[in-house]
Amino acid sequence: EKGTYPHFMLKEIDEQPFVIRKIIQEYQDEHDQIKLDPNVRQAMLNCDRVYIIACGTSYHAGLVGKQFMEKLANIPVEVHVASEFSYNMPLISEKPLFIYISQSGETADSRSVLVQTNAKDYPSLTITNAPGSTLSREADYTLHLHAGPEIAVASTKAYTAQLAVLVILAVDTAQAKGIELNFNPMQELAIVANAMEALCDQKEEMEKIAAEYLTVARNCFFIGRSADFFVGLEGALKLKEISYIQAEGFAGGELKHGTIALIEEGTPVIALATQANVNYSIRGNVKEVAARGAYPCIISMRGLDQEGDTFVLPEVHELLTPLVSVIPLQLIAYYAALHRDCDVDKPRNLAKSVTVE
Ligand code: F6R
Repeated sequence: EKGTYPHFMLKEIDEQPFVIRKIIQEYQDEHDQIKLDPNVRQAMLNCDRVYIIACGTSYHAGLVGKQFMEKLANIPVEVHVASEFSYNMPLISEKPLFIYISQSGETADSRSVLVQTNAKDYPSLTITNAPGSTLSREADYTLHLHAGPEIAVASTKAYTAQLAVLVILAVDTAQAKGIELNFNPMQELAIVANAMEALCDQKEEMEKIAAEYLTVARNCFFIGRSADFFVGLEGALKLKEISYIQAEGFAGGELKHGTIALIEEGTPVIALATQANVNYSIRGNVKEVAARGAYPCIISMRGLDQEGDTFVLPEVHELLTPLVSVIPLQLIAYYAALHRDCDVDKPRNLAKSVTVE
């Protein structure tokens, strides 16, 4: 039930710090070590390549998850949109592991790939919020998101839960492989949960940004580099699905290869700047669009912030910034939809789980 909340989406955004703390609890043993199904650990150790299969928001989580696994555990990862993969299967490595990411566990596009990989006896792991679901039952192993029921059509807490479970899985694999990491996932996730809480207390600022940038906007661009690019894709999806504003996420460096033609006087461009190694270049991209009339909104991370930034995020470990930077984007989408009188929890043309291919 949504209790005192006007919408499930807002309630579910607010639940994110608690979900992260719940995941820390569920995936940690009494010696503060990662607690994970040993079969999952073995499957990760046995594979030479991970194939992540997902749709929509879960696909966006997969893109970030690839970075976790490659950077922490040194395993090559491909991320595929399920609906494309099922008829255009790439060459598969000798020892693949298929990871299905699905909040509902019922998405037909993802299931169709699972049926195919099962037919080939490829090992499979489903990461889902619904352990009894089809994708969970039909895969070899399951990791539970522990996010609690997600009712709003626009996915919020499932995304951050997916990222948390993916980083724990990546660190567990790294440890099992004997890779020395200077990174304690539970400590870093606890810092993330606190940062999320602080952001959820700043709703008025997000509402102001939504009012200022998106009340009359026809379209909106999200730009970022590296992990910020993936979060931009998710921010754009949130905005378009509930506010019906045409929104697209772009890699900061890619805009000038064509799409910059769409920038007009006043076009909102939301830029994320949370990654030290690309801070200089993303700010260059902001200047490029501003010079063509765009109205930039810069969301940066403390430590990388510059004068004039629209909003500064509390600092978290650089790998985990997507868990935090997505929250203002969720809230901006929420308030934009609200200001435009849209049905936030049940946007037009959409269903919570897509059970047709
Ligand atoms: C976006 C959204 C959808 C789902 C997608 C996959 O807010 O809700 O893009 O993420 O349909 O759903 P699951 O994760 O249930 O497979």
